[in-house]
Formats: sequence, C-alpha cells, structure tokens
Amino acid sequence: MGKMKVFVTRKLPGEGVDLLRKSFDVRVAAQTGPISKTALLKGAAWADALVTLLTDKIDNAFLDKNSHLRVISNYAVGYDNIDIVAATKHGVMITNTPGVLTESVAEHAIALMMCMGKRVLEADAFTRAGKYKYWDPMLLLGTEFDGKTVGVVGVGRIGSVFCKFAHALNMKILYSDVNVASDIEQQYGAKKVDLDALLRASDVVSIHVPLLPSTRHLIDAVKLKLMKRTAFLINTSRGPVVDEKALVVALKRKQIAGAGIDVYEFEPKLAQGLAKLHNVVLTPHIASGTFEARNEMSLLVAKNVLAALNGQTPPSLVNKDVLEGWKKTGA
Ligand code: GLV
Ligand code: GLV
Repeated sequence: MGKMKVFVTRKLPGEGVDLLRKSFDVRVAAQTGPISKTALLKGAAWADALVTLLTDKIDNAFLDKNSHLRVISNYAVGYDNIDIVAATKHGVMITNTPGVLTESVAEHAIALMMCMGKRVLEADAFTRAGKYKYWDPMLLLGTEFDGKTVGVVGVGRIGSVFCKFAHALNMKILYSDVNVASDIEQQYGAKKVDLDALLRASDVVSIHVPLLPSTRHLIDAVKLKLMKRTAFLINTSRGPVVDEKALVVALKRKQIAGAGIDVYEFEPKLAQGLAKLHNVVLTPHIASGTFEARNEMSLLVAKNVLAALNGQTPPSLVNKDVLEGWKKTGA
C-alpha cells in the first residue's frame, strides 16, 4: 500500500512537517501568502489529510468536493474558518491546536495592555525623534495597573491564564462567560458579572472568546458606550467580535482611552481611520507568534493528522460527533 498523503497549504515554522514526513507523503504548498482556491482544491483532491491555516476558508462547497479527506488539521486554536457542521456531515474530522499557544496569546494581551498603559509607542517615537531634552515630572504620564479592575470577556484557557497574570499584577478581576469558572474565582478572586456590568466597571477589558454567531459584534457601539472614558480595550481573539468601525468612532471621540488590537474585522484590512489614531497599538495577528508556540502548534497539527490517518481519535478533535458516522460506516 502506498503512503497516505498530506497536503499542507503553506510553509510552517517548527518540526511538525518533518514528523509528518516520517510516515506520509507530504506536499507543502510553495507560495508565499494564502493559497489560491484552485491550488487548495488541487492539493485537497490529491490528499488524504489537509493541514490548513486560519486564512483557508473551508466551507460546505469545498467539503462537498472533498469528503474523501479523513482530517483537516487546522494550524490555529480558532476554527471559525471552517464550517464544522458541514465537515461533520461529510465525515471529515476537524482538529485545532488548543493548549500550546495559551501562554503566548495571554502574554501578548498583557503586552498590548502595557504598551497602552505605559505609552510605550509614543515614548519610543518621542525618544527616537530626539525630543528627550530634559527629565520632566509631567512627561508622558501613563497608567499604573496595580489595584485597577480588569474585565476578562471569556475565561477559557487563554482568558484563565490572562487572569493569572492580571492577579500577579494585583488587579481586581471581573469576568463574563457562559460558564462559571470556580477555579479562577478561587485562585484569583475573580467575580462573574454580566457583560454590561463588566464594561461599566473595568479599567481594562480583554477579550478571549471564540468567534461564534453569538459573539460576532459582541462589542458594538452600544457596548463601547458603557466603558469608562479611561478604559483600554484589548483584543487578541478574533476581529469580528468587535464592531471595528464603531471602535474607531469611540476612539476618535475619546469615549474610551485606547485599544490594543491584534485581530481585525476584515483582516488583513484595517477599518478606515484606525491606523491614524494615536491611542491604539496595532499588531498583525501575532499573539500566538512565538517560536515556542508556533513550534508546538506544528507538532500538535502533525499529531492530529497522525492519529486520524492511523485510525485513532486525534488529541484535539473539534467535531467529536463525526466519530459516530465513522463507527456506522465501519471505516
Ligand atoms: C490564532 O489566531 C489561532 O486561532 O490560533
Ligand atoms: C483557547 O485556547 C481558549 O480556550 O481560550
């Protein structure tokens, strides 16, 4: 029997692809940037398993043509680029990379928060421009976070680790979530409140929810108006969770003090006016972009493919219902 085939839609950092090559015939798409639809379809037609990125849209039409795939192993914890219901219907396993990027993403949220509070970007520009002429007690005054209140929207893995960091900074923690998180309540004194109460009371709001129909525009113009004028909004989750146009308006009107943003509603495009604002720090969706996390992500992607192609349950299977179908057909 020939080796099973794995198609990877772009070059990845880390050791995962080498691990796959030990067992399978692996092709890695050679283009820089997102793969074209045609090349993706061609690669998928050849393969038994796909490794996809969050820029690859896997919809029902794609799955209709590719129900021969055993697994689509997404190189991301978020999988809003994939139609999960359609994948299950077509008997295709979907996996993601939870756990291995948790600390990196939570650290990035803290970095954005610190950049805003300590005015790091403004201060850097000021210093480089040769404007530092004398020490001044009024110069570039920022915010101390000790004793302030942080509102954590979504306390899954990443939100929970963010709480740990915030607790170490002696911040008071409010959270909103569909679940009660007794562990963070006990460990960090976090208090569950509804989203409106969280927004009204918080000096920093950090978003850690997945993108779902129920979280799209969770933070819209109305919600932004509830926030304190001195508050910072931090988003390292998914862009469409925030109405970005409304955010630009709120920032322009100084309804909130600033924002630290890693993800955009219409990525890679930014909402008009966002990049002109001084009360923001903007990074290009790199919260999981550490050598450590991206390597672990590539290994986990490979382990998910290995398990699926060897007839085992992948360690991070998203659509567990799909196994019912596999049992019925005896595949
Ligand atoms: C990155 O955004 C991810 O979902 O892993
Ligand atoms: C994702 O890893 C999350 O649960 O926050």
